[in-house]
Amino acid sequence: MDASTEFENGQAKFDAIIAADEKIEPRDWMPDGYRKTVIRQMAQHAHSEVIGMQPEANWILRAPTLLRKAILIAKVQDEAGHGLYLYSATETLGVSRDELVGLLHEGKQKYSSIFNYPALSWADMGAIGWLVDGAAIVNQIVLQGTSYGPYSRAMVKICKEESFHARQGYSIMMALAEGSDEQKAMCQDALNRWWWPALMMFGPHDSESAHTAESMAWKIKRKTNDELRQMFIDQTVPQAHYLGMTIPDPDLVFDEETGHWTIGEIDWDEFWATIKGDGRLNRERITHKVKAWDEGRWVRDAATAYAAKQKMKPDKSA
Ligand code: 3HC
Repeated sequence: MDASTEFENGQAKFDAIIAADEKIEPRDWMPDGYRKTVIRQMAQHAHSEVIGMQPEANWILRAPTLLRKAILIAKVQDEAGHGLYLYSATETLGVSRDELVGLLHEGKQKYSSIFNYPALSWADMGAIGWLVDGAAIVNQIVLQGTSYGPYSRAMVKICKEESFHARQGYSIMMALAEGSDEQKAMCQDALNRWWWPALMMFGPHDSESAHTAESMAWKIKRKTNDELRQMFIDQTVPQAHYLGMTIPDPDLVFDEETGHWTIGEIDWDEFWATIKGDGRLNRERITHKVKAWDEGRWVRDAATAYAAKQKMKPDKSA
């Protein structure tokens, strides 16, 4: 079969799978652009999970009770697992984890902007769980329907754990909101600092998005950046009001006609500066990540050596 016929057959099969809302699997023919976008998005998702451990890890030793400490340790451990799960999903497309981590360390791949903000008080652990994991869940629940099979299946597992993450965050915020005036002020301060960066997690407006149109056509994305952001806003504003807290947006208004909350303008200069590396903590986050990667090399080498040794053992079950 000549190359052009193979291409035409492959494209036809790919188009039929996408049109039928079925899954593209690793061995299926796929356009180079599809492969590139899926690797890029899954890799950056994985990077986000791993870097995302840093803000919360800083508060494990300062949790107010043993129970909160245990919950936070479990959550941070989950995020590590989500990262490994997503790196495994990228490896189904023939890229190596080391290669992707190298791209992250060299600044050639991104992680979510949200993790470049400092966690300044215990209330931030609540705001991160409630708002950051809450935003991630809105996106990840929809991503369960993504067209790339391994990514879709990874999302099913990850979403189950993310729900616990958001619940424990909101529980921290409720405890503070029902506490002393000082604790109420801590809660409001954390909401003030995390609200707008959480909205930026969904990316630029669809009109400014380099990838959304193509990702929607390929059903990598099932909802656009703005649609996901609106879903998050509509679910979160009432939760803030239930806490007795104020959303830090003087232009926030409920549109009776559409049934949606409309917001003021996001500070896109802050967004683009942050994802270009000039956010509050970009350098600290990557420096810490590279140091941990280098210091952990002996663990990876030992695990690889052990696995190789296991492979050499005669198979006693035969
Ligand atoms: N942070 C960093 N970079 C961002 C970003 C953000 N919040 N939003 C967009 N970008 C980047 C994109 O990566 C792209 O740059 P690139 O071409 O170099 O990759 C550029 O800005 C243009 O944005 P687009 O909207 O065109 O890019 P996408 O189509 O990739 O959409 C996205 C961005 C909505 C984040 C999409 O990639 C996505 O849905 N990713 C999967 C979910 C994810 O990664 N979530 C991150 C948080 S994970 C998390 O929070 C863990 C939880 O446990 C706490």
